[in-house]
Amino acid sequence: MQYNHTSNIMSPIITTIFLILATSFHPSTPCLDPNTSKLILTNTTSLSSPNNTFKLSFFTTKHSKSYLAISYSSIQTPTYIWVANRQTPLTQTPDQSFLFISNNSLTLTQYENDKCDVVWTSSSFFNPGIKDTKLTLLENGNLVVTDGENESGVVIWQSFDDPTDTFLPGMNLTVGQTLTCWKSQNDPSMGKYSLRLRPPDYGEVELLFTDGEEKSYWSTGNWTGNIFANVPEMTLPYIYKFYFENPFTKTASFGFTENMVGQTKPLTRFTVDFSGQVKQFTWSTQTESWNMFWSQPESKCRVYGVCGDLGFCKSGVNVGYCECLDGFEVVDGDGWVAGDYSGGCRREGCGKGDEFEVVGDVTFDYEKMGTFSGVGRSECERRCLGDCACVGISYNVKTSSCKNYFGKILNMGNSSSDIGISQEFLSVRVSRGVNGKKIGGKVVVLISVVSCLVAVLLLAVVGLVFYRKKMVRRKKLEEESVFPVTNLKVFTYKELETATNGFSDQLGHGGFGAVFSGNVDSTLVAVKRLDRPGGGEKEFRAEVCTIGNIQHVNLVRLRGFCSEESHRLLVYDYMPNGPLSSYLKTGGRNLDWDARFRIAIGTARGIAYLHEECRNCILHCDIKPENILLDEDYSAKVSDFGLAKLIGRDFSRVLATMRGTWGYVAPEWISGVAITTKADVYSYGMTLLELLGGRRNVEGPPDGGNGGESNDKWFFPPWAARRISEGDVAAVVDERLGGEYNMEEVVRVGLVAVWCIQDEEVSRPTMGMVVKMLEGVVEVEVPPPPKLLQALVSGESFHGVGGNSRNDTLSHVSVDSKDSQFAI
Ligand SMILES: *[C@@H]1O[C@H](CO)[C@@H](O)[C@H](O)[C@H]1NC(C)=O
Ligand SMILES: *[C@@H]1O[C@H](CO)[C@@H](O)[C@H](O)[C@H]1NC(C)=O
Ligand SMILES: *[C@@H]1O[C@H](CO)[C@@H](O)[C@H](O)[C@H]1NC(C)=O
Ligand SMILES: *[C@@H]1O[C@H](CO)[C@@H](O)[C@H](O)[C@H]1NC(C)=O
Ligand SMILES: *[C@@H]1O[C@H](CO)[C@@H](O)[C@H](O)[C@H]1NC(C)=O
Ligand SMILES: *[C@@H]1O[C@H](CO)[C@@H](O)[C@H](O)[C@H]1NC(C)=O
Ligand SMILES: *[C@@H]1O[C@H](CO)[C@@H](O)[C@H](O)[C@H]1NC(C)=O
Ligand SMILES: *[C@@H]1O[C@H](CO)[C@@H](O)[C@H](O)[C@H]1NC(C)=O
Repeated sequence: MQYNHTSNIMSPIITTIFLILATSFHPSTPCLDPNTSKLILTNTTSLSSPNNTFKLSFFTTKHSKSYLAISYSSIQTPTYIWVANRQTPLTQTPDQSFLFISNNSLTLTQYENDKCDVVWTSSSFFNPGIKDTKLTLLENGNLVVTDGENESGVVIWQSFDDPTDTFLPGMNLTVGQTLTCWKSQNDPSMGKYSLRLRPPDYGEVELLFTDGEEKSYWSTGNWTGNIFANVPEMTLPYIYKFYFENPFTKTASFGFTENMVGQTKPLTRFTVDFSGQVKQFTWSTQTESWNMFWSQPESKCRVYGVCGDLGFCKSGVNVGYCECLDGFEVVDGDGWVAGDYSGGCRREGCGKGDEFEVVGDVTFDYEKMGTFSGVGRSECERRCLGDCACVGISYNVKTSSCKNYFGKILNMGNSSSDIGISQEFLSVRVSRGVNGKKIGGKVVVLISVVSCLVAVLLLAVVGLVFYRKKMVRRKKLEEESVFPVTNLKVFTYKELETATNGFSDQLGHGGFGAVFSGNVDSTLVAVKRLDRPGGGEKEFRAEVCTIGNIQHVNLVRLRGFCSEESHRLLVYDYMPNGPLSSYLKTGGRNLDWDARFRIAIGTARGIAYLHEECRNCILHCDIKPENILLDEDYSAKVSDFGLAKLIGRDFSRVLATMRGTWGYVAPEWISGVAITTKADVYSYGMTLLELLGGRRNVEGPPDGGNGGESNDKWFFPPWAARRISEGDVAAVVDERLGGEYNMEEVVRVGLVAVWCIQDEEVSRPTMGMVVKMLEGVVEVEVPPPPKLLQALVSGESFHGVGGNSRNDTLSHVSVDSKDSQFAI
């Protein structure tokens, strides 16, 4: 057999690798029949998609296991969308490994001691009509086998039919297919969480926990024709088009495609994360990172079995959200460190002298339970101790009823949003002596006394050192506080704790943290406590200085800050009339037109100042009525500017803060292209529509009478934008104004709003221009209705309930939009 290494080159145009004979490499042990095997890949080659978006190549994990995988070749962060041999890693370095087409399947082999092993084979793609086959990696990441003798040959095998954990545009989720998560960050083998079409109806997508038993722990809800019932976010003017062919049948097939955003198609993927959440990411060329925009279940503690047996899930915590109760130890320490908590916790053995430790009022799921009524607590405990499989009890004194739990205790948590079903006052069985309080005997008491004394002494010493450090620090702080760059006051944590009365009066909770009212030098202030401060103290101070130097009549003034240990707090002027959002809810206070118009212009001036007049242009990134505060004269002051930078760009948080009020996010946020000041313009436009309509952009129809309680969300902007573009601004204006407004101003505000929410950034005006338009300095033309929004109107068909006066108009609009087929 001829061995020709140089012929192992892919054609630059179609990335096909031609036949090379296998035995040439290791003549001593022919691995595969050389006459019928075709070499595709060695470690030195990779198969690339035509435009180099994806590549098929080998990679090696930290644990020296190697895999053949498809990844993005255009980005630095290694991201594997498909792994061939996820369950059977190569035990040798990849230079001993080869991918063949052999016996009508893809075959991955490795040589070990001159012996050939088949490591992985794909499903067979035997097709009697096809003599020669060809492997190609398509631009969408699909690895396909086609007829080698026919350029336009049919696909006889594709990796999209055998997904790993990633769902890409163009992929179909069909009956019988599952996406299964990696076991942990560095281990592509199959974890316990997967995603599939839910049997037996196949009308929705579910997340599944599999560990002997199968448990569905989240689902999208049924397909309504345009979206899934529990995923209203699908109506957002994002870049996707979802389709679901033949839902509720065995041939159901769900997928999505992306729309072009400008000239580019952003890289985007849905992944079943090893944490059990399904997450959607988009690559941002601006930050060179994957930005997560959406994930479900939102709370990590809603993932079934996430903390394993006897693990306690702390909701609202992002890292280290699982913990073992006192007296228990982590089973899989490495996994725990890597963020895979599913190994759970265990107690040391089982003995007659075991005791019970109160956990408290918690939710959980148990494997088995025994109930005994009419027994005392000690009898209840005794029964449990008699069986090593018994792990805990709950006892109800009132009814003298006793429950013994056996086997696993999963999903333990104490938040009402957790997934566990039983809610009981739980006590768990612990080995004797693990709980210091329960150790009896005089000797022990003596030991306790001695150790207490030692502890007190130690504490005192530590305290002293700490105090001194603190004084030094404080001195440093005081020195810095007179730093001439800014007139900001530096507060200690203690001072702010006192000023806010122990953070007792919470004014609200924004995207970055809770806000409390406080009193400093007998002046009211608003203290914002940042939830998850990013970066070090230095960065924080630098950033705070920048913010502190930004002063404008339409921006909330920062008075000072506190940066102590992990605490990061900001102290602002207090705004007596609260956020604009409180005037936009049903039953909220009304604002007359004059006030509204001043708020519109004031807000625009504030943002324009951030964009155009500061030394460094500042993107606000979170313009919405919650962040527009009103002072005693009802003048608008924009708040929260500069914070996006402080926190780092975790867009999922920005989105998370929009729950219930989504609809301010410009399409480019999701598209991954650079975010410019025009993203703020978009959000401003959305806010302007709310100000004009005196309502939120997403809520039940105003006359529907369902008080916003139902799932029946109505997305106002498409309808409003169309009315305004058609010249019927009056239809959009808040009825509470009773017709008392300046028509000319109303028209200007309406037109400006629609200009601001144009799909293309270039079509939106700058904030400076917005100010001029509102002031009437420049003429405002009639804008076209934004296409992305209008394309959503057909998604409105799920509003249905109740005879509200806008129903007719809506269905009319939906017909309109179908007629004019918005292609993007
Ligand atoms: C491969 O083909 C050659 C000639 O075409 C033949 O001589 C040889 O026996 C074949 N080898 C096998 C293993 O079938
Ligand atoms: C590859 O890029 C070129 C130029 O941008 C484009 O015309 C072509 O359609 C792309 N091919 C694929 C398969 O996406
Ligand atoms: C490929 O094989 C060569 C030679 O056997 C080796 O030096 C190289 O490190 C391998 N490359 C990778 C990516 O494993
Ligand atoms: C070829 O594949 C078929 C079915 O996939 C299998 O039954 C057969 O054993 C394979 N033959 C060899 C030589 O591996
Ligand atoms: C190539 O494949 C296409 C699609 O399957 C088929 O219509 C066509 O006849 C084939 N051409 C040849 C030369 O086999
Ligand atoms: C997905 O389904 C669509 C519609 O049925 C079909 O056109 C497309 O070829 C399918 N894609 C793949 C990769 O199978
Ligand atoms: C979803 O649809 C199926 C089949 O039509 C139905 O049996 C099921 O009750 C629906 N689920 C919900 C939550 O409406
Ligand atoms: C349960 O939650 C409360 C706050 O809601 C917290 O104070 C308490 O420590 C939690 N209990 C456990 C066992 O973590």
